[in-house]
Amino acid sequence: MPTWWSGAVGYEIYVRSFADSTGDGVGDLPGIRSRLPYLVGLGVDAIWLTPFYPSPQADHGYDVADYLDVDPTFGTLADLQALIDEAHGLDLRVVIDLVPNHTSDRHPWFQDARSATDAEHRDFYVWKDPAPGGGPPNNWVSHFGGPAWTLDEASGQYYMHLFLPEQPDLNWANPAVHEAFEQVLTTWFERGVDGVRIDVAHSLVEDPDFRDNPELEQPFPEATSTQLIFDRFAHIHDLDQDGVLDIYRSWRALADAHDAVLLGEVFVLDPVRLGRYLAGDGLHAGFCFAALKVAWEADEIRDTLQAHVAASGDALAWPLSSHDDPHAATRFGGGPLGAERSLAYFTLLACLPGVPFLYQGDELGLEDGVLDTASAQDPIALRNPGVAGRDPVRTPMPWQPGPGFGFTTGDPWLPFGTNRRDEHTMLAQSGDPASPLERTRELLQVRRELAEHLRSDDITWLTDEGAVIAIERGDELVVALHVGDGDGPAEIELPAGCRLAYASAAEVYLLDDGRLLLPEDTAAIVELSTEPEGPRT
Ligand code: NOJ
Repeated sequence: MPTWWSGAVGYEIYVRSFADSTGDGVGDLPGIRSRLPYLVGLGVDAIWLTPFYPSPQADHGYDVADYLDVDPTFGTLADLQALIDEAHGLDLRVVIDLVPNHTSDRHPWFQDARSATDAEHRDFYVWKDPAPGGGPPNNWVSHFGGPAWTLDEASGQYYMHLFLPEQPDLNWANPAVHEAFEQVLTTWFERGVDGVRIDVAHSLVEDPDFRDNPELEQPFPEATSTQLIFDRFAHIHDLDQDGVLDIYRSWRALADAHDAVLLGEVFVLDPVRLGRYLAGDGLHAGFCFAALKVAWEADEIRDTLQAHVAASGDALAWPLSSHDDPHAATRFGGGPLGAERSLAYFTLLACLPGVPFLYQGDELGLEDGVLDTASAQDPIALRNPGVAGRDPVRTPMPWQPGPGFGFTTGDPWLPFGTNRRDEHTMLAQSGDPASPLERTRELLQVRRELAEHLRSDDITWLTDEGAVIAIERGDELVVALHVGDGDGPAEIELPAGCRLAYASAAEVYLLDDGRLLLPEDTAAIVELSTEPEGPRT
């Protein structure tokens, strides 16, 4: 594990939507740099930057045309270096997004690969002859809709793409691809980045025989959205193949030599299967995506978190939201209640073994932006009429009241959403102790003060049923989340003389006799001064 990782708090920056320094309506690296003091004041330790590489932006940067440079839309390599240096000066770590599953179709490797069947880079990609009788080589489908194969007219062969046709998959069966990525990693580590978030880390390797994926249901329900079509198949041959771990094992020494983290976007919801990626000499850490799929339901939350902690302990990263998923405030009901639940849930996540991650705007209790279909930008929305896609979670960060919400002096690349109000902005919330921003700031400060109790993966689950989820950390802390059951505040008995270290809402009380009164949809961190007997709810 990198020395700086344990005990850290992460923050995801969706680069296009964070801060625009030029007025062109698109967020950029100097914009991020100007906001570093805000992030330090918020109390985060590491930022993860979504892709800033040269790219035609078919999938907003996840279609990389050059792994070693910066797209002029976002600035220059010098801007990035300045950002890294300044972040380090502020004790902030910088994790960048590595996209090893696919490139852009404009990447010189693919341009060369499609120029001739004997081109130097032909085998950097996955090419197959049509199926007997014609058509795609197998039944695999793209995450974004349609087949995972596109015919290259010139050669008569299909190339594989698990995402857009503009995102051809790399062929990790080719050792030259391994060498190329070792070079990429070495370059970035030498430039000072503190780690990589590995895009679709459960992908990269396919079944050597490219067998069809089994269909899950017969007959299929009428499926119009990409997700429904994708979910019709058991993805046993295109995703989560055993061999992918060997790739991370081979990167591990390189990362360790630079004290850098390998953080996987392992979208595998089974905790044991996910745990395989994080055990031993594989990835240092991986996001627990199941944590951002749970409903506001106590048993579901408890069972999910408990199973993941049991399988992977402090190798987990806990995303509250992400640029691909609805904001927690939206998932948990929207409005002030959604924001309250989002903070209460994050309080628990922040006290689990591992590294909690905010997605930009989570600290403001932001809900997804309400957009009209005419403003659609996400390829999922553009390719699937009627599907909102991921634009609502990617609306620009509202920094201050006024035109452009302090994000831009120009026209934002994506509207803020008709539901965005002045009170959602960073400025409006600053200094108001009851705001999501100040409460989040306080949470992270308390977490820092209590860090010694939270570092290990020692955890006891104190409740195995009911609306309260309570854990004990390091014999010193009890953390409780009341998910709510309609019965009003829960009363939790703790030893007299404990201290309420943090409450997600003003209505949480700790009485002198040790009773913690925890309203529904709130959470608290209590520091024990004596051995606890365990809470009775
Ligand atoms: C996961 C990324 O988070 C998502 O935004 C992207 O579209 C896909 N991977 C493809 O790279």
